Amino acid sequence: MIRLLRALQARLKAAGLPEGEAWDLLALATGLSRKDLLLSLPKPAPPGAEERAWALLEKRLARYPLQYLLGEVEFFGLPLRVEEGVLIPRPETEGLVALGLALPLPPRPRVLDVGTGTGAIALALKSRLPEAEVYATDVDEKALRLAEENAKRLGLKVRFLKAPLTGGLRGLDLVVANPPYLPEAYREAAPPELAYENPLALYAGEEGLAVAQPLALEAEGALRPGGFLLLELAPENVHRLAETLRERGWEAEVLRDLAGRDRYLRARRPPEEAEG
Ligand SMILES: C[S@@+](CC[C@H](N)C(=O)[O-])C[C@H]1O[C@@H](n2cnc3c(N)ncnc32)[C@H](O)[C@@H]1O
Repeated sequence: MIRLLRALQARLKAAGLPEGEAWDLLALATGLSRKDLLLSLPKPAPPGAEERAWALLEKRLARYPLQYLLGEVEFFGLPLRVEEGVLIPRPETEGLVALGLALPLPPRPRVLDVGTGTGAIALALKSRLPEAEVYATDVDEKALRLAEENAKRLGLKVRFLKAPLTGGLRGLDLVVANPPYLPEAYREAAPPELAYENPLALYAGEEGLAVAQPLALEAEGALRPGGFLLLELAPENVHRLAETLRERGWEAEVLRDLAGRDRYLRARRPPEEAEG
């Protein structure tokens, strides 16, 4: 199989794709784990594996995302199923989960993940905060079905609701979301892999705020006073939304992702004013 691996690597490299993906394609084609593949490399490919490997390569060269071919990604240490049309969880969103876990939440917090997709954020938070009551909304039927399947496979209890934004929930301690946030104009320059994800999960109007802005305003009624709103946004629009919330009396900060880009909005609904 060494010859086959080298040939796959060469084709990927020539197409400007990472050579390392050849290991994933060959593991998938042979049904072997990467470790077993390494041990089996000196042997001939199992029957049918070579044809499967070339067919997978052709799909990948057509920029079909590797994660959809594999059917699974790791997110915050959890294996999550992914399917074409439902957003592949991104590493930046693990940063959003880490920010959520660092908040001074009550012992049994009520948490909502808006636009849950595969369930990534809700499931990661529930896995680390077992006492939390975790809800998740999405407007996309396919995403919700996949999120429910992921929750079941992981044995994590999250209440999924087919509803826009906060789904009418109240008294929450944390509203977290990685909403669609790309400006429409980005479509033209987007990497071809994005065409296989759901545009509803990616694009949000001219400025990229068509979901995040109404969500932030709705969060004011969904959060208890002093509750937190945590959003992942594009560097171009995160400051604008932070400013909108400050004007409404919120504390709001912009934080950077690991690549140093302004990425997260951490905001706190003003506590109730003392009476008298
Ligand atoms: C960027 S994806 C995030 C998916 C997942 N949270 C993640 O980080 O991997 C945005 C998700 O929001 C959903 N969505 C779009 N508009 C929405 C709305 N108005 N209310 C709730 N969900 C929405 C999309 O269907 C999609 O699943």
